[in-house]
Amino acid sequence: MSAPWSQRFELALHPAIVAFNASIPFDIALIEYDITGSQAHAQMLAHQGILTAAEADTIVQGLEQIRQEYRSGTFQPGIEAEDVHFAVERRLTELIGDLGKKLHTARSRNDQVATDVRLYLREQIQLIKSDLHRWQQALVNLAEQHLYTLIPGYTHLQRAQPISLAHHLLAYFEMAERDYQRLGEIYQRVNICPLGAGALAGTTFPIDRAYTAQLLQFNGVTRNSLDSVSDRDFVVEFCCACSLIMVHLSRLAEEVILWSSQEFQFVVLSDRVSTGSSIMPQKKNPDVPELVRGKTGRVFGHLQAMLTMLKGLPLAYNKDMQEDKEALFDTVKTVRGCLQAMTILVQEGLSFQRESLYHAVHSDFSNATDVADYLAAKGVPFREAYNIVGRIVKTCVEEGILLNQLPIDRWQAFHPLFSEDIYDAIAPEHVVDARRSYGGTAIEQVHQQLEEAKKILQERG
Ligand code: ARG
Repeated sequence: MSAPWSQRFELALHPAIVAFNASIPFDIALIEYDITGSQAHAQMLAHQGILTAAEADTIVQGLEQIRQEYRSGTFQPGIEAEDVHFAVERRLTELIGDLGKKLHTARSRNDQVATDVRLYLREQIQLIKSDLHRWQQALVNLAEQHLYTLIPGYTHLQRAQPISLAHHLLAYFEMAERDYQRLGEIYQRVNICPLGAGALAGTTFPIDRAYTAQLLQFNGVTRNSLDSVSDRDFVVEFCCACSLIMVHLSRLAEEVILWSSQEFQFVVLSDRVSTGSSIMPQKKNPDVPELVRGKTGRVFGHLQAMLTMLKGLPLAYNKDMQEDKEALFDTVKTVRGCLQAMTILVQEGLSFQRESLYHAVHSDFSNATDVADYLAAKGVPFREAYNIVGRIVKTCVEEGILLNQLPIDRWQAFHPLFSEDIYDAIAPEHVVDARRSYGGTAIEQVHQQLEEAKKILQERG
């Protein structure tokens, strides 16, 4: 079988170059978008009198048959087809004869592939948004169970202040919410139709680009034909949004890995989500969060590949741009897989160890700020209070005791304004509940955040 452009050439393509050049092994994933795009194009050609209605009808039906053949597995074009666009056109011509050759009137593979990728991405963005929604739902469900569970809050991975575990989990809800919004914004720029730009300069045929765009439910048409075929900004933006999703997932993944270690013992992973070692029988490994952490790199890599592919590329289409597909497809597959695995992990894989968490928040100096606040509330300038507490903590550390084990007379030796109520003030439950500023970790605040999160999910449906 010879390529559509072969008449211009004297020698056949080297077989190794056929394989090197071909995108069909991966761009076959675009086939249904390619068919849908071609159907709309044929209908527009008929609408404009470039094809007859009967011709367009036959083409649309032939394309539909190819869709069915593909779905049932009987249409499996090989490497000689070069790419999905040629494969479909060739099959169409086999099915409906020479009329199939009219489909490519007023079109180029350059505007065709740009359209296919946009159609593909439009659908994938919606799927990832649904994955994010389920992810957020899982976080909210778990947070609801742990409103009153306290966990050490860290800065610099040093115990800082105790917080509500729900508060911690809802921080990830916020990240996912931004991810969701971001994808929605990118969708707006993806959802514009480049079809009709031709190879780069437009077409001599009296096409109606708005009509095609409308048939494909695009929100408008691209303005500049050169930009239409050479723009892949939306791929870069999408890879960037996915990289941020991975950043967020990898941060929780890392925390779960730490929390499930013998050193922390804050959480135990259920058997449904962990694996054993082939040699050390005592081990239970956090494979899911480790894989998520590990897969983050490849998504970043795809973003870098896309930026580099476009950098310095002269207008308009260049074959370099064929490289967008594998990166894009793998980004989608990886991000969706990670979101789904983390959702399962949070939904049924984590059992927080209330006893060790209780022990953790009751056995450190993460209430020291509250001692300073205590004095500051009684009129001692904060910096002075801070210094006094520094001395108190130093003494306790030297004696191997905690703040709540210091007798009242010794408190008062540090400052006369200390009285018996200092013990209540530094109890972790109080330390948490005292942080009532908007967005803080006090139970009433976290409860309010939880309600807002639920409302966001509900209103979204
Ligand atoms: N397979 C090509 C790609 O994925 C389709 C566009 C080819 N256009 C061209 N002028 N060779 O980018």
